Amino acid sequence: ALPLVRTVAELRAVVADWRRQGFSVGFVPTMGALHEGHLGLVREAGALADRVVASVFVNPTQFAAHEDLGTYPRQEERDAQLLASAGCALMFAPSVEEMYPQGFATGVTVGGPSQGLETDFRPHFFAGVAVVVAKLLNQARADVAVFGEKDYQQLMVIQQMTRDLDIPTRIVGAATARDGHGLALSSRNAYLSQDELEVARRLNGVLAEAAVQASSRRPLPAVERDAYSALLKAGFERVDYVAVRRAEDLSVFSDGVVDGPGRILAAAWLGRTRLIDNMAVAAP
Ligand code: PAJ
Repeated sequence: ALPLVRTVAELRAVVADWRRQGFSVGFVPTMGALHEGHLGLVREAGALADRVVASVFVNPTQFAAHEDLGTYPRQEERDAQLLASAGCALMFAPSVEEMYPQGFATGVTVGGPSQGLETDFRPHFFAGVAVVVAKLLNQARADVAVFGEKDYQQLMVIQQMTRDLDIPTRIVGAATARDGHGLALSSRNAYLSQDELEVARRLNGVLAEAAVQASSRRPLPAVERDAYSALLKAGFERVDYVAVRRAEDLSVFSDGVVDGPGRILAAAWLGRTRLIDNMAVAAP
């Protein structure tokens, strides 16, 4: 069975032991309910480092009161098996009290790429992500940590934070794992009914079509408006945003057309499930 530790002290002891043996260390933070997307990150970390640790922690500070913290899927034993099969050497599954003991009083605020997009709809979100990822990176002290492009804005925020705070772990982004219909794998896909799944699978195609238009220098307000309508027509009940931004820092293309590498990002609702996706927009 996969070795499991629940305290920061034990995590540090194992990692220190690896280091004494001369091994480099890779790290993959997750909230569990693992799927092939997470396992791809573990394999990527395994290609970049000698030993891989994965964390499984459903972080309460990144959920708003009305969000799905209580019902977020928890399946630790299955997660442990999957991690082992992907070559992970250690699972770190701390309790909420271990991560946020009585008296915890520190926040981490990241500007830059955290502005707009997710933040317009989940204003609490990146503060919660930043504080937990800063803690996890300091706890594991890995050489490299792998995050998914599935959560592209999160990846940009973490890169900004580690740069600004001199956190020495190298942050690497890994491509989004998708099902055979292009739907980005997500733990929240488990909430979808069969009908909703059919609609969900159209998100990626709508973004692909918009990305082509954006690359050919069609004005972005028109591209974004049409993609928004196409998502509603496909059956999404509500669209939080569809937007094309600069790939490197998520700033806006101020001329309203793509003039370098871009990224199209979207969030949309099916019933009570919120899906996000994004993809590259090639420079024209
Ligand atoms: P979670 O949603 O569990 O995702 C863990 C990691 O897996 C993230 O880096 C995410 O981008 C990546 N991931 C999820 N689905 C993916 C897919 N289909 N393809 C590739 N990578 C995918 O993101 C979080 O947890 C949390 O915010 C966390 C960073 C752990 C902080 O709590």
